[in-house]
Amino acid sequence: MKVLLATEKPFAKVASDGIREIVEKAGYELVVLEKYTDKSELLKAVADVDAIIIRSDKVTAEVIEAAKNLKIVVRAGAGYDNVDLAAATARKIVVMNTPGQNSNAVAELAIGMMIFMARNKFTPGTGSEIHGKRLGIHAYGNVGKIVARYGKGFGMEVYAYDPFITDHAVYEKDGVIPVASVEELYSKCDYVSIHIPATEQTKKSINFDLLSKMPKGATIVNTARKEVIDEEGLAKVLAERTDLKYITDIAADMQVVLNEKFGNRVFATPKKMGAETQEANVNAALAAANQIVAFFTKGENRFQVNKW
Ligand code: 3PG
Repeated sequence: MKVLLATEKPFAKVASDGIREIVEKAGYELVVLEKYTDKSELLKAVADVDAIIIRSDKVTAEVIEAAKNLKIVVRAGAGYDNVDLAAATARKIVVMNTPGQNSNAVAELAIGMMIFMARNKFTPGTGSEIHGKRLGIHAYGNVGKIVARYGKGFGMEVYAYDPFITDHAVYEKDGVIPVASVEELYSKCDYVSIHIPATEQTKKSINFDLLSKMPKGATIVNTARKEVIDEEGLAKVLAERTDLKYITDIAADMQVVLNEKFGNRVFATPKKMGAETQEANVNAALAAANQIVAFFTKGENRFQVNKW
């Protein structure tokens, strides 16, 4: 059995060493492709492998077509919008993620981003505190729940909206106030932290209308995906509302323009770093390797995200 670790953005060494240990202990071979710059390298590397571990690496229909022996792809992380599920499913290739394994790292970054913007991107002058402010959690999944908990630790009043969690008890047991609609969340909150996946339904769903509802001085924090933002709408609202701020871990396609136009009110990390902690790397990497071994040895498919 041949397993490929394909990471354009490599894991910490301790994490990739951990993958090697698990894979080789199972009697399989590990091939590593890190920091590749061209998709032709990936196409070549997948040719004879049975399993692939990836991060945000794009597993397109072309990659799947080139991987003649492929049986399983594990996205070491949460979001699997980078995998062509239809192409994988058509070949009965199992796709899994490792939910929760890097959530704490992303949640910590979201809180750090709020403070960074509250303190004017660490430039001189009077800033503000997040204590006492209203925090809106847009989607109450693994990351959202931790951001809510940390926000409460900072003395924020925490609200949440998640269309898939309608049982109020889920929020209330965490001391979080559920709201009835996404519009209500954005209307109420001084900070909205986005934790929705990029799907056909959510892409561009955070648009001008929604953002214009935010209260004076509000900040939008995006550690999810750039695709969920309607960038034209964001630019328009930032131009009309000189009090609003936007910070993101995934640079917008028009980030250069946003930076030029809105200076201190916007910020994007140079490269997505939400899951870039040694702890998150180890958690997600080892989970991915263990899931592959469990799949081949016991047929385990608990975290499979495509079904047929
Ligand atoms: C995820 O979906 O798990 C996060 O966005 C982290 O992605 P990364 O592994 O590409 O950093």
